[in-house]
Amino acid sequence: MAKKKTKTQPHVFGIDVGGSGVKGGVVDLSKGKLVTDRHRIPTPQPATPKAVAAVTRQLVDHFSWGGAVGVAIPAIVRHGVVHSAANIDKSWMGVDAVKRFSKALDRPTRVLNDADAAGLAELHYGEAKAYADGVVILLTFGTGIGSAIFVEGELLPNSELGHLELRGDDAEHWASAKAREDGKLSWKAWAARVNEYLNHLEFLFSPDAFIIGGGVSRRSQQFFPYLNTSARIIAAELENRAGVVGAAWYAAQEGTL
Ligand code: BGC
Repeated sequence: MAKKKTKTQPHVFGIDVGGSGVKGGVVDLSKGKLVTDRHRIPTPQPATPKAVAAVTRQLVDHFSWGGAVGVAIPAIVRHGVVHSAANIDKSWMGVDAVKRFSKALDRPTRVLNDADAAGLAELHYGEAKAYADGVVILLTFGTGIGSAIFVEGELLPNSELGHLELRGDDAEHWASAKAREDGKLSWKAWAARVNEYLNHLEFLFSPDAFIIGGGVSRRSQQFFPYLNTSARIIAAELENRAGVVGAAWYAAQEGTL
């Protein structure tokens, strides 16, 4: 990703499309903070492009927002087009998400992967800033596992480390927050899985820091004591707002991923 210049546009609307909720709000980009509440509408089922686009419209209208919008979705997005659908309706495959959302919202809209959005937010506004001159991996633990890799502050988009094979399966089937809930695992038992996953990633990428995001970042005291890597392990500071903030930040940049 080439270096981008931030436009003089301090307030942008960010939207984070998740498996159970579509969240959005107005972000002050000078601080990386929401200036409205983070409004949530349940994700329509099935979450087809048409249905999700309609919900993003509802969100923007809820705040009567007329300005720029960025949307984060749980899929590979290359030059605006969706190239995977692991945790999203299969009908997204091959859809030009930029066109779809721009039409529904009636304005040019920018779209990126949800973990990339969270990573951009943490790197620009969170504790991860301290590692911006090194290698940082952000992981979001939720329905799946999302990832964002940064080298000297530059994002390698669509890294999809949740689908790395571990124990003969997708790592996210084994170590996501959903896997903990579905398997009724104790924090300690789940942390052992996360630790094995982190150690594998450490062997492959030698990062300086791992940022642990997703809903579990609020419960870091429950499982961080069981994690052991030579990279620093940091709880995502923006918690469940990171996707919204990162999507807004991205919308204010020039160029495309
Ligand atoms: C998807 C990723 C997404 C992650 C977190 C994975 O299943 O493949 O694109 O970032 O879930 O939502």
